[in-house]
Amino acid sequence: MKRRRDFLKKLFGAALTVPAAPFFPYRALASSESGSVDVPGEYGMIVRSFRFVDLESPVGYFNLWLTPIPHFFVRNHMFEPSQLDASAWRLAIGGEVEKPISLTLADLSKLPVHSVVNTLECAGNGRGQFRPQVPGVQWGKGAVGTARFSGPRLRDVLERAGVNSTGKHVMFHGRDEVPGKVPPFIRSIPIEKALDSDTLIATHMNGSPLPKHHGFPARALVPGWVGAASCKWLSEIKLLQNEFVGNFMNPGYRFPNHPVQPGEAVKPEDTHPLTALNVKSVIAGPPDGATLKSGRTTVHGAAWAGEADVVKVEISTDGGANWNPAKLGNDHAHYAWRLWSFEWLAKAGDHNILSRATDSQGRTQPATPAWNPSGYLYNAMDQVKIHVG
Ligand code: MTE
Repeated sequence: MKRRRDFLKKLFGAALTVPAAPFFPYRALASSESGSVDVPGEYGMIVRSFRFVDLESPVGYFNLWLTPIPHFFVRNHMFEPSQLDASAWRLAIGGEVEKPISLTLADLSKLPVHSVVNTLECAGNGRGQFRPQVPGVQWGKGAVGTARFSGPRLRDVLERAGVNSTGKHVMFHGRDEVPGKVPPFIRSIPIEKALDSDTLIATHMNGSPLPKHHGFPARALVPGWVGAASCKWLSEIKLLQNEFVGNFMNPGYRFPNHPVQPGEAVKPEDTHPLTALNVKSVIAGPPDGATLKSGRTTVHGAAWAGEADVVKVEISTDGGANWNPAKLGNDHAHYAWRLWSFEWLAKAGDHNILSRATDSQGRTQPATPAWNPSGYLYNAMDQVKIHVG
């Protein structure tokens, strides 16, 4: 695997871009002593890590409202479960409940199915753009994607066990294979969000059973919130009196309570857990560094706002001096991104194109991101530099 990686590194640089392999979405890309690592992506996924599969979508893929699964980013903190037998799978529900239960996939399938089109974004998306740099996976712009997730509502599942009035937080436990002393992937969400009619135990993505990389056979889907809330390979749900205490709740996935200076340290007690996503837009095309012919061209991309709605996207073709409204696409759902486009008459010269979105909560993308020590929630205006010849 190392030789293969070194070879790819030489070819494609530090962030590996998997070369073209049309119509072969789950190609075994690299093999290790323990077997092969299947990397989704017909081609072009940016491999941020092989050890624990971390794949980024090039922004050029953000021209479809629903991201095809082979182009959907993958974020794993550890090894995926090697044994995933749907018939043996059980979901235990316990803690502050009237009667602990254990459900099979067949039990889940008897509950009413609900679908939510959700833009799932990793809290660390864009981390690689923070200056000074912060440790962690150096994501570019593509740790985000939009899919139709389907399955029973979490609240219908919880109802089967009966939640006690003392059950204030809902803990999800993933079945990842934990290397060495790494703590298991366990996080919790407040009961209010858990009981929301759009919070799911998702078993399907874009109409197909969840693929392994995305949590087969069942994952939590906490729409509008950072991707970390949506625990994959669910094995256990536990009702707790208080927020779960553990690595992925604290120190992981927390944000400073107050603005901090770039590079400043933040005490853990001055932070809170991440919940909903920021307002954000990304330019999908033309690509950064492109050379175009003068004349009509379309600047296009996607914009999202977590639990809020995108109300406008503006484009500047002169580095932020003037702004023009982009046209929002027709596809629309509460937690889903809006595609947008702007028709531009490109004149010869060098151009700095910027995009900025505004949402229904009155938030607008800032020119400068809110730096924080873990590099979460990057949402500065996006920009590409192009040359028109
Ligand atoms: N669930 C488990 N069990 N293990 C993980 O490593 N990663 C989380 C979340 N759920 C993770 C998990 C993070 S940080 C993100 S951004 C999303 O899954 C990514 O979901 P995806 O890989 O399906 O795109």
